[in-house]
Amino acid sequence: MELFDVIKSRRSVRKFSSKKPDWKEIIESIHCAQYAPMAGGIFHMKFLIVDDKNKIEELANWSEQSFVAGAKYVVAAVSDPVLVTTPFPKKGETFSHQQAGAAIQNFLLSLEEFGLGTCWIGHFNDEKVKKVLKIPEGYFIEAMFPIGYSAEKRISKKKEVKPKSDIYNILYFNEWLNDRMKKIEKIESRGPEGY
Ligand SMILES: Cc1cc2nc3c(=O)[nH]c(=O)nc-3n(C[C@H](O)[C@H](O)[C@H](O)COP(=O)(O)O)c2cc1C
Repeated sequence: MELFDVIKSRRSVRKFSSKKPDWKEIIESIHCAQYAPMAGGIFHMKFLIVDDKNKIEELANWSEQSFVAGAKYVVAAVSDPVLVTTPFPKKGETFSHQQAGAAIQNFLLSLEEFGLGTCWIGHFNDEKVKKVLKIPEGYFIEAMFPIGYSAEKRISKKKEVKPKSDIYNILYFNEWLNDRMKKIEKIESRGPEGY
């Protein structure tokens, strides 16, 4: 797929078919995460792939989301904040989460390219999940990702593609402007397409 199509067609998947994904595609997607921008070029993420059925069930339980148990694989994206807070004491904690997000988005887009479905799981009991996965102190679980082939009905990928916001509500030129009409005028005066 073209990059724009991959970005626009990615959607959360919460129902998985019984077909097991090729773990090499998951590894390749983790490899894509390694190309994300990182403050000071420091890669501070670890990825833990879970395919043990019992453990996956425990992860579903500790995230209070039963659909997680329907996945053949769950990947936990874990950051090591100290690697970033040491060189950047003031902004390190923020950087740590920001660059985790960048790495995760690369990972998600690669999964989409492989035709794999997933859903970002942010709601879970951190301590319990750490225990299940034997993650040492000091690490932070940014998110978990149940992975599989979608068993959800999708009408047409192209038809579904809708941005999450109106461009006029999120775009500014040179200064913050709350007047919507003035903003539209300002944006549209910049060119035939408006933006
Ligand atoms: C930080 C974060 C946490 C999320 N946590 C959950 C979650 O715990 N469970 C869930 O079903 N979806 C979760 N999501 C997925 C969002 O619900 C989903 O991205 C949103 O509904 C938009 O749908 P889309 O991914 O198909 O564009 C999370 C997404 C983000 C970015």
